[in-house]
Amino acid sequence: MTEKFIPIRDQRLSATTLSIPEHLSSPTGYVQDDLGRPLHDLRISVTDRCNFRCVYCMPKEIFDKNYSFLPQPALLNFEEITRIAKIFIAHGVNKIRLTGGEPLLRKNIERLVEMLASLPTLSGKPLDLTLTTNGSLLARKAKDLKDAGLSRVTVSLDALDDTTFRRMNDVDFAVSDVLEGIDAAAAAGLAPIKVNMVVKAGVNDQEIVPMARYFKNTPHILRFIEYMDVGASNAWKMDEVLASADVLHRLQAAGMSLRNVDANYTGETAERWQHADGSGEIGLISSVTQAFCQDCSRARLSTEGKLYTCLFASHGHDLRALLRHPDQHSDLAIANVIASIWTGRTDRYSELRSALSNDLLQKSKKIEMSYIGG
Ligand code: GTP
Ligand code: 5AD
Ligand code: SF4
Ligand code: SF4
Repeated sequence: MTEKFIPIRDQRLSATTLSIPEHLSSPTGYVQDDLGRPLHDLRISVTDRCNFRCVYCMPKEIFDKNYSFLPQPALLNFEEITRIAKIFIAHGVNKIRLTGGEPLLRKNIERLVEMLASLPTLSGKPLDLTLTTNGSLLARKAKDLKDAGLSRVTVSLDALDDTTFRRMNDVDFAVSDVLEGIDAAAAAGLAPIKVNMVVKAGVNDQEIVPMARYFKNTPHILRFIEYMDVGASNAWKMDEVLASADVLHRLQAAGMSLRNVDANYTGETAERWQHADGSGEIGLISSVTQAFCQDCSRARLSTEGKLYTCLFASHGHDLRALLRHPDQHSDLAIANVIASIWTGRTDRYSELRSALSNDLLQKSKKIEMSYIGG
């Protein structure tokens, strides 16, 4: 079957120029947006490159040898990332997730982990410092990441069947290497390990039950994710989405008895389910059929220092320009800019999605997931 791809316009060029507010006030550890949502979670993309070409994220036809990835000087360096992170923590952020592209491709990533892990939080509790990876380099890096201060990892894995997995990553990467990476992360103590499976109807939905069986009786939490219309390059169609309710039915039909349990925290993406026999937990992430914008406390920082207040935003706020400004803006000044961006935030794309026609959805300018991270 040949897939159709939509040519993408380069949204990385689109960013708002920021100015420093006239009156500055110190961060209080709490800032809420226009819909009353606090800022708790900062997701930092450390590279826009990836060694996989997952069909739903970086299709080969677009991300080929002619694609211009960001040049090295455009990337925030580790000092700049740490400075921004510190400012976000002053606004109440208690969780930082490193993403990509594939974050383990960033040179000396362990050093960045070390720098972020040493940042004090407002509560005095350690920062929840985590990372989303495709697992390809995890066997090699798990121990060093743990030693550097990483709390846990989330591994993307879309199939157990090697042929299906190779077809999805589209670079002929073997599933056994990712499974080895997960084992290495467990041995290093990067727990709880979460495994993210994006379910694409007709592509890997036959893997739902085998994946659930494989991770049953392990401490790892397998999460089934509804395939989303992120970016513009994956030619998303609603009929490729398998609703979480259907995933649940399939697990139950396969004899698994699951009970719903409370969220760990307000705004958790996954609905939690536990096997009634105590053999583990799964999660259902239903951003298409049951949007969770209502409690969304996530901010995203791109590799080149643009701040996005929604995964589906078409516009970023250029923090790098402030960091590198000849006027040498203070942390307080930058904190006030961030507070004013968050205060004005009204994003709730997933909630609004159902009201938009397929045609309008395809036309809307959105940032790529590989650029901003999950
Ligand atoms: P935990 O801290 O372990 O709870 O992680 P998380 O679920 O917040 O983050 P993760 O990156 O593992 O998210 C899992 C998946 O949920 C992503 O791959 C996305 O598909 C989806 N997701 C995460 N955040 C958002 C969001 O803000 N909006 C939408 N629509 N989907 C999201
Ligand atoms: N829909 C849902 N999740 C996606 N991811 C990437 N693209 C999509 C999409 N279209 C997920 C990956 C990984 C994280 C980086 O984002 O599976 O877990
Ligand atoms: Fe790479 Fe993750 Fe995107 Fe796959 S989903 S291409 S592993 S960034
Ligand atoms: Fe948050 Fe935007 Fe995702 Fe809604 S769509 S949960 S506002 S990032």
